[in-house]
Parts: sequence; C-alpha cells; structure tokens
Amino acid sequence: MPKEEFQSLDPKFAQSLVDIVASELKKNVNITNDKGVIIASFSKERIGQVHEAAAQRLTSGNIQEFSVSAEDEVRLRGVRRGVNVPIIFADRCVGVIGVTGDPETAAPYARLAARFVEAALQSNANREKLMIALKEKRELQTIYVNKIISIQEEERKKISRELHDETSQSLTSIIVGLRVLAERAHNEADHEQIMQMRDLVARTLEAVHHLAVELRPLLLDDLGLVVASQKYVEKYSQQYNIPVDIDFVNLSRELRFTPEVEITMYRILQEALTNIAKHANASNVQVVLRRHRQKLTLIVVDNGIGFDSDLSSKYGNDSRLGIFGMKERVELFDGYFAICSKAKEGTSVVAEIPLIAKKSKKRSLSNSKHVSLFNN
Ligand SMILES: Nc1ncnc2c1ncn2[C@@H]1O[C@H](COP(=O)(O)OP(=O)(O)O)[C@@H](O)[C@H]1O
Ligand SMILES: [Mg+2]
Repeated sequence: MPKEEFQSLDPKFAQSLVDIVASELKKNVNITNDKGVIIASFSKERIGQVHEAAAQRLTSGNIQEFSVSAEDEVRLRGVRRGVNVPIIFADRCVGVIGVTGDPETAAPYARLAARFVEAALQSNANREKLMIALKEKRELQTIYVNKIISIQEEERKKISRELHDETSQSLTSIIVGLRVLAERAHNEADHEQIMQMRDLVARTLEAVHHLAVELRPLLLDDLGLVVASQKYVEKYSQQYNIPVDIDFVNLSRELRFTPEVEITMYRILQEALTNIAKHANASNVQVVLRRHRQKLTLIVVDNGIGFDSDLSSKYGNDSRLGIFGMKERVELFDGYFAICSKAKEGTSVVAEIPLIAKKSKKRSLSNSKHVSLFNN
C-alpha cells in the first residue's frame, strides 16, 4: 500500500491541470481533495457551492459522478450547472474534479482530467515502490559489505593467531636449540656459522611477529581508527626511516566508526604506506584523514619515483593486486578511489567512503558483482 503522501493530490499539479481544462472549455474548473477542500480552481470567486457539496457527497462513500442539470439549477438556488467526477486511487476517493457548464459537454473533460490525475498518482506510487526497492537493496548491500569484511578479517585473525602461536613458538625453539648447539660447537668456524643461522631465524621471527601484527591490528579494535593510524604511522616511520606527517581533520581520538569503516580505512593506509616503502623511494610522506560532510577521506601522498598509474594500462590487474584491493574495498562502500602518479613526481592515493548510505545508485553493477562473489 503506497504511503499517504503519494495518494494525496499535489496542489501545483492540480492547478496546472485546472488551468488547462478551464482555458480549453472557457468554464470554471476546480479540484477538491478527499476532505472536500478546494485545492485548485480556475476562478475561486465564481465557484458555486455545487462542487464542494458534491465533493462531500462523493467522499461520504457514494463514489459516483455527480451532475447538476438545468432543472436542478433552477430548483437548487445558487447552485450552478456542472459535473463532478471522483478521482479514485487504491480503491479510495482521493479527490473530486468539478467542471461547471452543461454536464454533457463538461463530463468528458472532467473524466479525462480525473483519469489523468489517477495516472499521475499511479506513477508516483510506482516511483515510491522503486524507491523502497532501492532502499532495501542498499540495506542488503550494507549487510553484504559487513559480511565480506568480517569474513576477510576473521581469516586474517586466524592466520595471525597461527603465526603467533605456532610459527613463533617453533622459531623460538629453533633459536634456543641453535644457541645450545653453538655452545657445543667444536671449533670457532662452526660456532660462527650456527650463530649466523640463529640470527637469521631471529630476524625471521621478527618478520613473522610483524606480519602477525599487520594481519591483526588489535589497536584498531581497542582504540579506533585515529589512534591506530597514528601509532601505525609512527612505527612505520621509524621502521623505514621515512618522515611521515599525519594530519587528522575534524576527527578526535575518541571518535569511532563502524568496524567495517575503520578496518577498510586502516587497510588502505597500510597498503598505501607499504607500497611507498616497497616501491617509491620517497623522502617524505603526507597522510591526511578527514571527516567532512558525512564522508571519511584518506589521502596518502609521497614524493617518490612515481609510476604509470593508469589502472587500465598494460600491466593489467594481476600485477596490481594491492592497488585493486584498495579500490575494491572502497567500492564495497560505493565510495571514491583514485591513485595518481607520474614518474619522478610521486604518487597520491585518495580513498573516500560515505559514512551514511548514499542515495545515488550508480554502482549497482559492482554491487551485484560483490553479491555473487559472496555467494560463491
Ligand atoms: N607509491 C608508489 N610509488 C611508486 N610506485 C608505486 C607506488 N604504489 C604502487 N606502485 C607501483 O604499482 C605497482 C602495483 O602496486 P600494488 O598493486 O600494490 O602491487 P605490489 O605492491 O604487490 O607490487 C607496484 O609494483 C609499483 O610498481
Ligand atoms: Mg602493494
């Protein structure tokens, strides 16, 4: 059942219709709503009581055309000749269109106008149905997005735990074992070789630990995006010896977003910064995280060597999984993603996601793609 507002007559629309019919017929025309109140008329002063009375009669349940003949006009003083046609929508009289003059001449116009209004109401109702369907689709999309993200994150958590509990333990045992072996070595050369092995395993353990932390940003869960990003950037800057400026705009340390929004932005920050460490050879990095007009935007800019960032270029998608991963994450939210780079001029990554569901449905194709991905 369409909403009340879609069943009620739009006065502006009613007035235009009245003007058209009245100028055609050179007679008075008016439209009353379902309460018998005139909402549009050609000439208000000239309206006889007939239309209002008729409207009341029509809305009292007896939904029929109502006309006043020449004889009636004589009998009912002050009541002008004319015809009134109900406007029926969803089995209900939502208004009445009245045309003065000879009922024979006026009736076809009044009926045509009534049908026209009914068609307009129908089209509004269809539009509303469509809007409801779109809203449901958006809600469904949000559910899928959250599901996809939580599955990915669960998987990472599992791997992280395994790396931490199993792999790290084994590596630690190997380190201890190698140290014991080194002590028992028969000569200096053997001792040296075993100690080198031990150092290599120690470095591997460190890398595994780092990987486990990357996979599972516990800080993010506990303290939120702003604090976790700040800490990540500090550690990164230290680890790779690259100065990084991080700027938070319109964000406080306490501010929390949904876990999906937080993890998405965090992962993009990680990937963008890792790319800089791996490929850019940059001496300076700027990071901006900004909340503005219900959008969260992350910008990561480096002054490194740059590359050909045309996403459709010859390299194809397979060799750019990191970049496409960032793009995909943003698109799950109907957001905006761009990577701009020029050789020797550095690279900038922009990721923007809406903090509330967006109205426009430009990306329905990619949504369905994600839906099917999820089902597979
Ligand atoms: N900040 C950057 N500076 C220079 N080159 C970059 C940068 N980010 C990405 N690239 C280039 O884009 C390619 C694709 O990046 P990505 O999809 O993350 O894959 P990967 O990091 O695994 O190589 C990289 O191999 C690199 O050549
Ligand atoms: Mg990468």
